[in-house]
Amino acid sequence: MKDGAFITLGIETSCDETAAAVTAAGRRVLSNVIASQIDEHAVFGGVVPEIASRRHLERINGVIDAALSEAGVSFAGIDLIGVTEGPGLVGAVLIGLAAAKAMSFALDKPFVGVHHIKGHIHAVYLEHPALAPPFLSLVVSGGHTDLIAAHGYREYEVLGRTRDDAAGEAFDKVARILGLGYPGGPKVDAAAKNGDPHKIAFKRVMLEKGSLDFSFSGVKTSVLNYVNTEKQAGRSICAADVAAGFQASVVDVIVSKTLTALRKTGYRKLAVGGGVASNSLLRSRLNEACEASAVELFIPSPVFCTDNAAMIACAAYYEHKAGRTDRLDLDAKANLAL
Ligand code: KG4
Ligand code: ZN
Repeated sequence: MKDGAFITLGIETSCDETAAAVTAAGRRVLSNVIASQIDEHAVFGGVVPEIASRRHLERINGVIDAALSEAGVSFAGIDLIGVTEGPGLVGAVLIGLAAAKAMSFALDKPFVGVHHIKGHIHAVYLEHPALAPPFLSLVVSGGHTDLIAAHGYREYEVLGRTRDDAAGEAFDKVARILGLGYPGGPKVDAAAKNGDPHKIAFKRVMLEKGSLDFSFSGVKTSVLNYVNTEKQAGRSICAADVAAGFQASVVDVIVSKTLTALRKTGYRKLAVGGGVASNSLLRSRLNEACEASAVELFIPSPVFCTDNAAMIACAAYYEHKAGRTDRLDLDAKANLAL
């Protein structure tokens, strides 16, 4: 219930989840509604932008209504609307943005556009009321693999990022090569549990010494070459071993570079976000590594790792508190710098 706290309605439609959420005082989640389209895109092996936009359009009003009613908040009780402005599928972002603008205009409430990755960074605040910057943030999603110094709630410095495929993208592509289905991350994660990570050694691409950038297209190609070679030789492929070997390679690189970034920045707190943060091996390896180096680790529950609107509401709250309010001509952006 509202109890006098500042109420933010968050809206997120950048990819294949139609999501709305309500937070109080920025980070207390009162509701978090997510209508996933995964089943509809799965038959195509990936997200079809046109279908995503159409479904967002059909569902957005119902999802917003559900988020408000679950939170016990009326239209009049909303203090701020936060919405993803990009990066993402531009036709999909547009639907959430149009809904936010319409509500802002009709209800005479302020609205703020949120960078999707800033949302993923803020997800960590939702379950840790006392957490405050500075800390190191690792965002590993379908579109991003970023190591970011969070100097403040709004001040960020990108220390490293992927030069080609994002971690989640590599998981999705490897799942497709292995015929595991879409979305690939959870399928590879599950398959790897029955596999031997040492059976097949895939590349660990570290780039130049000390670099905090990532490159995952090489390991994806190694998996493709391995599978093709085995098939041509008439040998059967153990998908579990391939999944385990691939996952170990990606996780090794992410953990190693994250530790380097912690050493470089001197930060003793690590916050992780993005869909790949729900990967079981990454979670356990980060846990071990942080424990061994006395770093405090914050990983959101899986529902706040993948796309959701509570993280967008939280980021919007801190933007607005610092004085930002957007105008109704704010555009949806496919690409947007952090
Ligand atoms: O953050 P997110 O929901 O959407 C983007 O902003 O991209 O991340 C989706 C990505 C997908 O690539 C998906 O395969 C990956 O996160 N993912 C995982 C796992 N769960 C989701 N990757 C590895 N292991 C998982 N358990
Ligand atoms: Zn995301």
